[in-house]
Amino acid sequence: MHPDLKDILIPEHRLQKRLQELALQLKSNYADKEPVIIGILKGAAIFLSDIVRLLDFPVQIDFMALSSYGTSTKSSGVVKIRKDIDIDILNRHVIVIEDIVDSGLTLQYIIDYLKKHHPLSVSVCALLDKPEAHKTDIRIDYLGFEIENAFVVGYGLDYSERYRNLPYIGILKKEIYT
Ligand code: IMP
Ligand code: MG
Repeated sequence: MHPDLKDILIPEHRLQKRLQELALQLKSNYADKEPVIIGILKGAAIFLSDIVRLLDFPVQIDFMALSSYGTSTKSSGVVKIRKDIDIDILNRHVIVIEDIVDSGLTLQYIIDYLKKHHPLSVSVCALLDKPEAHKTDIRIDYLGFEIENAFVVGYGLDYSERYRNLPYIGILKKEIYT
C-alpha cells in the first residue's frame, strides 16, 4: 500500500469485477444504440478506458474537461469548460462517465450543459458515490460503489494531481491534505 494511505478501500480485483457487471448493464440498455460515451477528465480517464474495453457493441468516445473553483478537496459547483465535446450529440444517446459524485454539483452542471445540445437521452455512470455529501438531487443510473464520506485517491482520482496511477482506491491519510 502507498505510504500516504490510511487504508485500501476497494482493491483492484473488486474494481474489475464491478466493471464487468456495469458493462453488462450498459450492454442490456445500449447494445443497439451506439451511445456517445463522454468521460470527464482527468479523473474518469482510467475508469473509462477500462470499461469501454468490456463493451462488445459499437460506441463513440469523447471527453470533457472542466475546472471547478473550490479548494483542492471540495468543489464549489462554479464550473468552467476547458475542453468541450467534439462529437455532435444531437439525437444521440449519451452516457457521462464520472469518477466520483461528491456534492453532485459538477455532474449537475454537465448534465444541464449537455441537454442544451438536445441528445435523445443522458445517463450517468459513476465509479464512486458519496451520498452523504450530495448538495443536489442527482440520479446516478449506473454506479460502481457507494462509499463513506472520506477523501479517496487512486484509479484516476487525485489529490493535487498525485496518486491517479494507483491501481486501487485508497483512503488518503488526513495529515496529507490538512
Ligand atoms: P462534486 O462537484 O462535489 O460532486 O465533485 C466532483 C469532483 O470532485 C470529482 O469529479 C473529483 O474530481 C473531485 N472529488 C470529489 N471527491 C473526491 C475524492 O474523494 N477524491 C478525489 N477527488 C474527489
Ligand atoms: Mg473529476
